[in-house]
Amino acid sequence: MTTVTRQLLIFLGLGLGLLTVTGAQAQEEPKKTEHMGDMSHVQAITIDRGLTEKGAECIACHKDKNPGIIADWKDSRHAHVGVSCIDCHGKEKDSPMAYQCEGIEGTDSYISVLVPPSTCGRCHAREQEQFNESGHFRSYRQIIPKDSLHALVKRHEGQDHPELHNAPNETGCMQCHGTEIKLGEDNRPTQETWPNAGMGNIYPDGSTGDCDSCHTRHAFTLKESRHPRACASCHLGPDHPNIEIFENSKHGQVFLVEGDDWTWDSAPDAWEPGDYRGPTCATCHMSGIGELKTTHNITERLYWNLWAKESRVRNSSDVMSPWYGDGPAGREKMEKVCLSCHSKTHTKNFFEQGDKAVRLYNEAYWKPAKAMKDELAEKGLLKENPWADEFQIAFYHMWHHQGRRARQGALMAGPDYAHWHGFFELQQDIYKLKGIYEKRLETGKIEGY
Ligand code: HEC
Ligand code: HEC
Ligand code: HEC
Ligand code: HEC
Ligand code: HEC
Ligand code: HEC
Ligand code: HEC
Ligand code: HEC
Repeated sequence: MTTVTRQLLIFLGLGLGLLTVTGAQAQEEPKKTEHMGDMSHVQAITIDRGLTEKGAECIACHKDKNPGIIADWKDSRHAHVGVSCIDCHGKEKDSPMAYQCEGIEGTDSYISVLVPPSTCGRCHAREQEQFNESGHFRSYRQIIPKDSLHALVKRHEGQDHPELHNAPNETGCMQCHGTEIKLGEDNRPTQETWPNAGMGNIYPDGSTGDCDSCHTRHAFTLKESRHPRACASCHLGPDHPNIEIFENSKHGQVFLVEGDDWTWDSAPDAWEPGDYRGPTCATCHMSGIGELKTTHNITERLYWNLWAKESRVRNSSDVMSPWYGDGPAGREKMEKVCLSCHSKTHTKNFFEQGDKAVRLYNEAYWKPAKAMKDELAEKGLLKENPWADEFQIAFYHMWHHQGRRARQGALMAGPDYAHWHGFFELQQDIYKLKGIYEKRLETGKIEGY
């Protein structure tokens, strides 16, 4: 990023620091829409404006109503470059999302509490495009057609309760995956669909995502998104313990010992080893490092799919496909990350170790377990309700919990997850499955309750 000159203006006596920023190399004045133009075509951005009177009114009133929001915004890059409430929350009168908050009733201003990624994308088009090309994009969309998942949530977890069956979704899945946000008669979002910080929200204007899931409002800092905790609110637990794996790894050790002293706020593409001694989630999956550019496509550097029942090398250009991505190109990029700090032999041997673990899972666990399940199904020896059938429950845990832990632990250098929470448990699972399978074939009956 280029150097910028900053000039402090004192604004409204509120003590808000407003900076007029001039990007030294930004030749073009960005085109302007009503609120602010698409500035994504220049890395160094020229903004030479203060707040409009309307924009200032929002702040003047909300500073008493929501001092927490104003405090976060006031110290942000956005405040410093004059991006304010109205630029993100202001809506055209005819937008389906538009309404008036109490303070602007009867005026010609319209707002919504909702800020879809299309709004951020007006100024950050490249980040939105890359997000739309990432596996994160499908976080909610992929759930829509899956009847078995809806049955799990409503029928089993929600016990088909006439009024309350959606509670597990609203407080669980939706908070990580997102949902389709619906509007009530007052154009405000409904209780069933908002608030949530889910990655794949579909907003009423059709745009998809949730930019504040990694950059929380209203600070929207780079530091937060580069920190492993930005991913940890979703990437944790028995089925994708990525934060636990990270903390188990040597990288986690280095980060946990000295991360507080690292430089976290370097400009995009200029955050390099030296600012830090070990990689975080962002370093490996997103940040610019060496010759690699920053990307909001977290699929770009992946080789395998490590969450599916069976792992395959990625080779699809359909963002909805589990095999989305270009595996060999992804591996090459990931190796470039490692080579900034490790030798060629270290990196080559590491990936050979990890790939072996993935292939072992595929061949010694997934394939035989699947063959047993298919045979039981064919012989009518599986219960209709999978969640009350010991074989199907063990089968699910094998691939969805233990199998992911073993594979992801192996490829992210977390030995406790590769082994104790992974392969050790996998061998227990496969012996259990074999036991139940043999018994059912022998007796021709399904045991149990
Ligand atoms: C850079 C864009 C941006 C700016 C500038 C901005 N907001 Fe927000 N605001 C958001 C986002 C994103 C959300 C979350 C909305 C969603 O889930 O769609 C939000 C949410 C809110 C909420 C609901 C928050 C809650 O926790 O209940 C309020 C109220 C709000 N903003 C007021 C303001 C005010 C007042 C200002 C000016 C000081 C402001 N915002 C500036 C992006 C912005
Ligand atoms: C005179 C005071 C006042 C002014 C001016 C004002 N607001 Fe509000 N705003 C409120 C109050 C009070 C509420 C809470 C009641 C409500 O939601 O209508 C609110 C609510 C909001 C919310 C949350 C709405 C929701 O559904 O939760 C947002 C976002 C918001 N205002 C943004 C703005 C923006 C943007 C402006 C400037 C265009 C603005 N406000 C101007 C007083 C004001
Ligand atoms: C009206 C234009 C505009 C909108 C809308 C907007 N931004 Fe920005 N944003 C900017 C500008 C300008 C900068 C400063 C760029 C710079 O520092 O060179 C910026 C900086 C950022 C940064 C870097 C912050 C840092 O600490 O360096 C992040 C992250 C960010 N925006 C996220 C968002 C998100 C998320 C949204 C939507 C909720 C959003 N922006 C909406 C114009 C906008
Ligand atoms: C709000 C929750 C949330 C946060 C925060 C989050 N993720 Fe994700 N992530 C998801 C979900 C949900 C999926 C599964 C997407 C799908 O449905 O296929 C996912 C998938 C992924 C994948 C696999 C993509 C693929 O193509 O299979 C990677 C890699 C990933 N996330 C990395 C990250 C990193 C790195 C961060 C932090 C910088 C992060 N995520 C933050 C929810 C989140
Ligand atoms: C704590 C956050 C969180 C919750 C709660 C959560 N998920 Fe996920 N989910 C994730 C993450 C993160 C991934 C990505 C796993 C990976 O890449 O290894 C994921 C992956 C998935 C996948 C595989 C991705 C694909 O494209 O097929 C499905 C399906 C899924 N989740 C469905 C659900 C459903 C349904 C619920 C609720 C019953 C749920 N999840 C609850 C975070 C969550
Ligand atoms: C999965 C987490 C995640 C999500 C979701 C996310 N970001 Fe980011 N964002 C990051 C990380 C990490 C960085 C810092 C990259 C680096 O090290 O330079 C970043 C950096 C940025 C920057 C600074 C410039 C740049 O590209 O590096 C902007 C602007 C930004 N994000 C906007 C957005 C917008 C707009 C969205 C929604 C479309 C979004 N982000 C969604 C993680 C995320
Ligand atoms: C040292 C670099 C590095 C760090 C740090 C790192 N990862 Fe990874 N991650 C990888 C590699 C390598 C893979 C396996 C890619 C492959 O070969 O498919 C991977 C795989 C994943 C996957 C599985 C994707 C799938 O196909 O199922 C997710 C999800 C993920 N990482 C998220 C995270 C999160 C979240 C963090 C931080 C808590 C993190 N990673 C930290 C390098 C890293
Ligand atoms: C910013 C520098 C940095 C990057 C990038 C990085 N590492 Fe590391 N890595 C380290 C440091 C520092 C250690 C601790 C070395 C020690 O134990 O003395 C380490 C340790 C390891 C270890 C533990 C074994 C050992 O040699 O101590 C493995 C395995 C590893 N890294 C793999 C990777 C892989 C694979 C990648 C790329 C996906 C990667 N690293 C990227 C800095 C980095």
